[in-house]
Amino acid sequence: MLSHVPGQLATDPPWWRDAVVYQIYPRSFADSNGDGVGDLPGITARLDHLHALGVDALWLSPIFVSPMADFGYDVADYCAIDPVFGTDADLDALVAGLHDRGMRLLLDWVPNHTSDQHRWFVESRSSRDSPKRDWYVWRDRRPDGSPPNNWTAAFKGVPAWTHDEGTDQSYLHLFLPEQPDLNWANPEVEAAMHDTLRHWLDRGVDGFRADVVHLIGKGSDVEDLPDHLAKGPVIAIDRPFGHELLRRIRLVLEEYEHEPMMVGEVYLLREGQSVAYLGDPLSGDGELHLSFDFRPLHTPWEPEAMHAAIARTQAEFAEPHWPTWVLSNHDQVRHRTRYGSEARARAAAVLSLTMRGTPFLYHGEELGLEDADIPDDRVVDPAGRDGCRAPLPWTAGGDAESGHGWPAPPWLPFPRNASTHAAELQVGVEGSMFELYRDLLTLRRSSPALRWGAMDLAPLAGGLLRYERTLDGEHLTVLVNLGDAATDWPADVDRGGVVLSTMGAAVDALRADEAVVIGR
Ligand code: NOJ
Repeated sequence: MLSHVPGQLATDPPWWRDAVVYQIYPRSFADSNGDGVGDLPGITARLDHLHALGVDALWLSPIFVSPMADFGYDVADYCAIDPVFGTDADLDALVAGLHDRGMRLLLDWVPNHTSDQHRWFVESRSSRDSPKRDWYVWRDRRPDGSPPNNWTAAFKGVPAWTHDEGTDQSYLHLFLPEQPDLNWANPEVEAAMHDTLRHWLDRGVDGFRADVVHLIGKGSDVEDLPDHLAKGPVIAIDRPFGHELLRRIRLVLEEYEHEPMMVGEVYLLREGQSVAYLGDPLSGDGELHLSFDFRPLHTPWEPEAMHAAIARTQAEFAEPHWPTWVLSNHDQVRHRTRYGSEARARAAAVLSLTMRGTPFLYHGEELGLEDADIPDDRVVDPAGRDGCRAPLPWTAGGDAESGHGWPAPPWLPFPRNASTHAAELQVGVEGSMFELYRDLLTLRRSSPALRWGAMDLAPLAGGLLRYERTLDGEHLTVLVNLGDAATDWPADVDRGGVVLSTMGAAVDALRADEAVVIGR
C-alpha cells in the first residue's frame, strides 16, 4: 500500500516520518560467539534493550559477504550474509524479533561500487570481451600514460583509476581500488541491482540506507570535472541521470505493500542538492523517501552557525519534503567528542529528537560515548575512522582492550569513556544520558506535535535558540542555550510548564548548554 496518494499530502504520516532510526555498526555492537566481532545474534539478544530505549527502526551498516577492505562497504555478494555476522536464519530471527516488537529493519545497500572480489568484477576484469566488461567503467589511459580523467578517489587523494595490466585498461573506483564502480548506464547492471533489493524485501526487510547513492548518476560519463568537484572527501557528482535511476528504484520499492523506505546518503553539501534527491512525491515522481543532510553534522556548536544550519535545512526540506537529523555516524568523529562536553551532547539529544524530521541516532550516542583513542598499531581503517567505530561497552568492568561485556577482546579498542559510560551504569539510572534519550523518545511518542507538527524557529536571541512545535492545539516550546553564559528565560515562557530539562530542575536562568522542553 502506498503511503502517499499522488497529488495530495499524506494525512497519516508514513512510518518513516514518524520513526526514530538507530544505526548499528554491526562489528561493534554485541558479539555473541566470542570472535571479537559483533554479529546478528548479538543484536537480536539486545532487542529488549533497544525496545526499552524506544527506537522504532534499526539501520545496520553492511552485513553482506565482503573481504572487508572497507569493512563491508566493499560487497562481494549482495544477497548473502557474511559469515562473520551470521546466517540467513540469524537475519530472519532478527527481523522476526523486530517485527514482534513493532520495530523495523533497514539494511545498507551499496549501489555505487562492489568489491573487486565480486564475481561480476572478476568476470569483467578477465577480458575486454567479457559479457560483464561494461558492468564497470573501463577506459584507456591517456596517451601520456596518465589516468583517463582527473577524478580523485576518496580517502587517500590518489587518482580514481587503477590500471589493470592483464587487459591494459584502467577501471574507475571513487573509493578504494578494492571498490570498483558499477556502470549504471548499463541496463543489465540496473536490473541486477534492482533484484538485490527485491531479494531482501522478499525476506521482510523494511527498507534500505543507500550508500553514496548520488554517485550512480555518473552513468558512464567520465569527462574531466573542474578541480573543486573532482577532488575533496567524496567527489561531487550530481547529474540528472541519478534522478532517473532513483525514480526507477522507487518503483521497485513500491512493488511491495509493506511500505519499504529508502534513505539516501547524498553527500552533496551545496544548497538544494540533497533535497533534490527526494524527487517530486506529489506528482508520483518520488525518488528517495529521505535524504541525509550532512551540513548540520559539519556545523560547530556555535549559536549563529547552528541556527543558520537548522533554518536552512527546515526551509529546504519544507513540505512536501521531510528532513533527517544526523549528528554522528560511522564516518565522523562522534558529536560527544566534537562538541567537547557531556552538557552539549545532552542538549544535542534534545535538538535531534524534538525538531521536525526523522532522527537517525548512531549506536552509543545514547550512552554519551566518546571516540576511542586508537594506537598506531591498532589502526585498521584506511580513512582514519576507527575512533567512532569502537565497540559498545555493555558493562563497566574492563580496560581499553577487553572486558565491558565482550566475551573476547574486540577488533578495536573501547571508547575512552567506556568505564564510566557503559550501558549497565546508565540503564535505569536517573539523570544518565541513556535515561535522557529514553525520556525524549517517550515524550516524542506521546506528542503528535513533536512527531509531525509544524516547527517555527525564532530568530536567535543572544545564544538562545528557540522553536515551537505545534499541531491541532498542542504546543511545545524548545529552548537551547547555545551561548557560553546563563541567559534569562524568555518573558512569555512559563517555567512551570517545563516537561524536560537536560540539567534537572529549572533555575532562575537558562544555564549555558541547557536545553528544555516546555509544554502548554
Ligand atoms: C559511505 C560510507 O558511509 C562509508 O563508510 C564508506 O566508506 C563509503 N561510503 C564507501 O562505500
